[in-house]
Amino acid sequence: MQESNNLSLTETAGFDAALTRAIERVMAPISEATGIPNPFYTDAAFHEAEYQRVFALGWACIGVGADVPEPGDALPVTFFGRPLVILRDRTGQVRVFHNVCSHRGMMLVPEPASRLRVLRCPYHHWCYGMDGSLQATPNIGGAGEHEHADFDKSKAGLREVRTGIWFNLVFVNMSGDGAPFEDYIGPLAERWSDFKDVKLVHGGADSKASLEINANWKLAIENFCESYHLPSIHPALNSYSRLEDHFNIDVPGHFSGQGSLVYNPVLAADGRSLPSHRGISEQWETGAEYASFFPNMMLGIHKDHFYVVRLDPVAVDRTVEHLDIYYFDDGQVRDDSDLRRENLKIWTTVFQEDVMVVEGMQKGRASPGFEGGAFSPVMDGPTHTFHRWIAERLAGNRPRVSQAAE
Ligand code: FES
Ligand SMILES: [Fe+2]
Repeated sequence: MQESNNLSLTETAGFDAALTRAIERVMAPISEATGIPNPFYTDAAFHEAEYQRVFALGWACIGVGADVPEPGDALPVTFFGRPLVILRDRTGQVRVFHNVCSHRGMMLVPEPASRLRVLRCPYHHWCYGMDGSLQATPNIGGAGEHEHADFDKSKAGLREVRTGIWFNLVFVNMSGDGAPFEDYIGPLAERWSDFKDVKLVHGGADSKASLEINANWKLAIENFCESYHLPSIHPALNSYSRLEDHFNIDVPGHFSGQGSLVYNPVLAADGRSLPSHRGISEQWETGAEYASFFPNMMLGIHKDHFYVVRLDPVAVDRTVEHLDIYYFDDGQVRDDSDLRRENLKIWTTVFQEDVMVVEGMQKGRASPGFEGGAFSPVMDGPTHTFHRWIAERLAGNRPRVSQAAE
């Protein structure tokens, strides 16, 4: 077990003293509580502390299985700046490896690739199997000598990252020793158990979008937790799904957000609609739910589609949002591409409308006149639940990041 040097940044007495004071205020009852203080939105050292204490020790989403649909597909991604590669092995299993060659540390897979039989390093052409094992080391013993007695290939394979899959989402636990994946996913899977047998079909290019925002990732999650801003920021959405039709979702320790009692999409002038999942309870015939699934996902589930917005925290004040929309296969052959395009347009419009407030809150975090703010006891419960979730982990977890997590 080795710790990296930059952990000392988070171990100063000043950091922990400031943290202890802040946590007490966040954990207070909602009418007295203030939010997580500004440095957690503006200071790179605090951002790294969040990685060490919150992200690396638990589970987080880094991609979707639909991005590696076939055996032999590989997709490089970064997670808090750490290079990873998501691939589908020969047996069809999604696996995640640190995307770095064991030889001189070259990034192994620089671009999305398909039909791979091996991962070949661009530098000296060492080759790894899709299971991460090191299989070929050309010229390692001199020209034409591909083995060396002092080099044991079996000890130089790729480092695999602990992975879990749910609803086609690819989760990782970087430290490798976080809670069982089933414990993490269980409460949400239970809440949405009407959809447990759903056959998800990714809508392809018509159902993907990315958005760069100049704001800390937490502000996007916080904004997604609430319906409070519907009338002011989403007037079009609010005209058919009004503020008063919404309810809070609050499952402390796991997720929070909001739901709507009115979900009745009109996607085509001729009245056609997308196929609904069969066998769902009445609640879903007219309603939908939107959960901030901690730490970095914003999920929406409806009778006819599911979406995920995965947040990639690329810097303390910069986040990339990746949207993927899935539909439910009802067994019919039909072309709904126009409806899917319209649905993508509706959701990207909503997320675009949110950018102004999320970036505006980031700007506000530079103000010495703001010390965590206040919560509406009625409207901001789910946001306070998220703050408590983060605060508990920042205070309760100490970095114990193994080599595998770095
Ligand atoms: S760095 Fe990969 S083969 Fe040398
Ligand atoms: Fe919004």
